[in-house]
Amino acid sequence: MTHPLFQKFRLGQLELANRVVMAPLTRNRAEPGNVAARMTAEYYAQRASAGLIVAEGSQVSPMGQGYLATPGIHSPEQVAAWKVVTDAVHQAGGRIFLQLWHVGRVSHTSLLPGGAAPLAPSAVTANTKTYLGQGFEAVSTPRALELSEIPGIVDDFRKGAANARAAGFDGVEIHAANGYLIDQFMKDGANKRDDAYGGSIDNRTRLLAEVASAVCAEIGRDRVGVRLSPAGPINDCADSAPQALFELAVDKLEAVGPVYIHMIEGITGQTRTTDPAVDFAALKKRYSGVYMANNCLDGEAAQVAITDGRADLVSFGRAFISNPDLVRRLQSGAELAPLNRETLYGGGAQGYTDYPVLP
Ligand SMILES: Cc1cc2nc3c(=O)[nH]c(=O)nc-3n(C[C@H](O)[C@H](O)[C@H](O)COP(=O)(O)O)c2cc1C
Repeated sequence: MTHPLFQKFRLGQLELANRVVMAPLTRNRAEPGNVAARMTAEYYAQRASAGLIVAEGSQVSPMGQGYLATPGIHSPEQVAAWKVVTDAVHQAGGRIFLQLWHVGRVSHTSLLPGGAAPLAPSAVTANTKTYLGQGFEAVSTPRALELSEIPGIVDDFRKGAANARAAGFDGVEIHAANGYLIDQFMKDGANKRDDAYGGSIDNRTRLLAEVASAVCAEIGRDRVGVRLSPAGPINDCADSAPQALFELAVDKLEAVGPVYIHMIEGITGQTRTTDPAVDFAALKKRYSGVYMANNCLDGEAAQVAITDGRADLVSFGRAFISNPDLVRRLQSGAELAPLNRETLYGGGAQGYTDYPVLP
C-alpha cells in the first residue's frame, strides 16, 4: 500500500498530490530589480511533483531585503516575473506558495535604499553574516523601528500577500522564523523594547498576530501558512524561555486561523536536539490546523512522523535542491544525490536547474 506520505492531502481548498513539501530556499539568482529569473520558472517546474512548493523568501519591501539578488514581491515587475514561475509550476501540475520575508536587522547598508541602516525591534547588532555576492560579510548595525512605523510593516506583508495572489501563487507563507524581523520581535535576545511590542510574551508576539491577521484578512485563511523556529539561535536570535513564548505564539495563530504552521524542529539545517529543548508535540497539540514539520528529516523519519501523527505535512529543504524528483526517490527508496554547497547562493544554471532526475 502507498504510504500516506505519498497520498493526496487536502490543504484548505487545495488538493495536494502528496504530503511532501519543498521548503523555502533562498538561491540569490534574481535579476536586476530583484525580479525572479527566467530559469527560476524551470527550477520550480522541475520540482512540481512536490505536494506543495514554498518558494523562497521574497522581500515585501525594499527595506525587507537582507541578501544580494533575492526576489521581491513589492513591484509590478516582480509580480510579472513571478507570474511566469507560477504558470510553469501549475502547468506541471504543482502547487506553489510564496514565502513573505522581512529580514529586519539581518541586512547590510549596501543593499538598502540610500544606504539606510537595517530595521529592527531594537538597535542590537546581530552576530551573523549576509551574502553580498563576493561572499559573506557581517551585517550592519540596525536602528530600532519607531512605534509609528509598525503599522507600515504589517501593511507591507498585507500588500505582499495581495501581490503574491496577483502573481498566481496559491497562497503565501509568512516568514516568522530564522531570526528575521518577526522572529526578532518575538525573542528576548533581540527585542529590548519597552512599548506595546516588547517586554511580555504577549507584547512580543503582537507583531506576529497582527501580520497573520492582516494577511489572512487580505487573501483568506485557507491560503496562509506561518513558519516558526522556536529553537534559537539561527542568525543570533534566541529566547531565554522559548516553550512559553511559542505556546502563546501558536495560541494566537490558532485564534487567527492560518491553514498551516510550518515548524522548524530544532536548529535550522543543523540539529533536531536543542538546549533548552522545545516540546514540539505540545505545540502541535495546541493547533487545530495543519502542522508541517521540517528540519534534518529523511524519507523514513518523514513517514514515521506522518504515521505517528506528529506531522500532517513534511518539508524538505536541501534534499530538494539536488533531487528535483525527490518525491519519487523517497517513494522508491532510491539514493539521494548529494548537494553541491558551492552553487547554493548566486550564479547561474549550474547547481540550480542541472540536477538530474532518475531515468
Ligand atoms: C540554501 C538554503 C536557503 C534557505 N533559504 C530559506 C528561506 O528563504 N526561508 C526559510 O524559511 N528557510 C530557508 N532555509 C532553511 C530551509 O527551508 C530548511 O528549514 C533547512 O534547510 C532545514 O531543512 P532540511 O534539513 O530538509 O534541509 C534555507 C536553507 C538553505 C540550505
